[in-house]
Amino acid sequence: MEEKTVSRSSWSGKWAFILAAAASAVGLGNMWRFPYLAAKYGGGMFLITYLVLVVTFGFALMMVETALGRKTGLSAIGAFGALKKKYRFIGVFQSIIPFIITPYYCVIGGWVAKYAFAYLTAGPDALADGGGYFTSFIAGNYSSFFWMAVFVLLTCAVIFFGVKGGIERSNKILMPLLIGMALCISIYVMTMPGAFDGLKYYLVPDISKFSPELVIGAMGQMFYSLSLAMGIMVTYGSYMKKGDDLEHSVRRIEIFDTGIAFLAGLMIVPAAFVAMGSGEAVAESSGPSLMFIVLPQVFQSFGGVATVLGFAFFLLVMFAALTSAISLTETCVSIVQDSLKSSRRRAFVICTIYVLVAATIVNLGYNDLSFIQPLGEGSSILDFLDFISNSVMMPIASLMTCIFIGWIVKPKVIIDEVKISSKFKSEGLFVVMIKYVAPVLVTIILIAYVAAQFGFFSM
Ligand code: PFF
Repeated sequence: MEEKTVSRSSWSGKWAFILAAAASAVGLGNMWRFPYLAAKYGGGMFLITYLVLVVTFGFALMMVETALGRKTGLSAIGAFGALKKKYRFIGVFQSIIPFIITPYYCVIGGWVAKYAFAYLTAGPDALADGGGYFTSFIAGNYSSFFWMAVFVLLTCAVIFFGVKGGIERSNKILMPLLIGMALCISIYVMTMPGAFDGLKYYLVPDISKFSPELVIGAMGQMFYSLSLAMGIMVTYGSYMKKGDDLEHSVRRIEIFDTGIAFLAGLMIVPAAFVAMGSGEAVAESSGPSLMFIVLPQVFQSFGGVATVLGFAFFLLVMFAALTSAISLTETCVSIVQDSLKSSRRRAFVICTIYVLVAATIVNLGYNDLSFIQPLGEGSSILDFLDFISNSVMMPIASLMTCIFIGWIVKPKVIIDEVKISSKFKSEGLFVVMIKYVAPVLVTIILIAYVAAQFGFFSM
């Protein structure tokens, strides 16, 4: 395991940073979460809302986080504290979020690993039964626990043996393969009956679908997918050199991450239409299981090559998930290390045990603890953790960040840092977003959302 070094290491260049940040950003959020949210929240309207948020709010927030990290050379807690001691708590608040996400991320990572393996053992027909296989897998007593543990241990082993660099390098081959495969699958899906309606649903915005819930869904997804509002990009920024162009890097990461999410949606949403028929049916039944139910049906129609195709696809998704899980777990390790002042090794053991235990509880939410339905009838512990982190904590974390940078330390602190290495082309947009638009938007959306939850009006 890599021991803590005294001086801070840095990326070998701008592209090393972009690739590492992209490896953290591209994961289950793109392949699993984005398509089901797009399907659930009315396709095109969600897509356009998401895109607008990424290039405005997401851009501004990622600039703040990376510049803050580079300026202070510290991770979140220290970085906020370094600008103003009293505001360390923002970093503390952000640092709680990876501890909520990592366990359930690993549960879904386990689902993906299981599916890759099941293509070789159970075969494509068994998996394409419209949801029965998936339900009995997650509700079963052993299998889902076993695969969750496999995924957690794999993640921790990569960290422990210090081979993360190797995994990230292999991503340079695996990621393009995943993109190529997703592209081919989406083209193939278009040839299936009913897929065109799905394409229209995915691409053409229907204004009547607009709601505060859609905006909060898109916003939470943006934080999740770009790994924002949880302190991670601050740490990544702290490894950047003063000469690296921040704005260019941030734009590249956004384009890459959003491109892959878009592609995943292009593959899964029309496939859901083929399987379920109408927009209403798709919106109604879209949730965390969508990818695992719909894609096996697409693969099955390939006949003889379905086994290889399904195996390869889920294996590639698993790799993308693995690099994100590594980044999440490492964040937890460094937070424990810093706050308990413990050795890296001890922090690593604590985090491994924590993730295993917490992920077991998340898993139990689908069988022995299935009576716990925190978000109403049929919801699970996983749904709750996903909701509390993405729809509640991350908006609050981002609101605090905007107020802190926009009004307390002032945007100039960030702008000056950006300008050390390059011109700041979107400076105007940045200031308006951080000072006015983002805080107002987040406040309105949060109030509307909470009011709706308490039944003051319906969304
Ligand atoms: N951005 C990742 C995804 O879309 O799957 C999730 C994630 C990874 C969030 C790493 C945070 C993180 F540190």
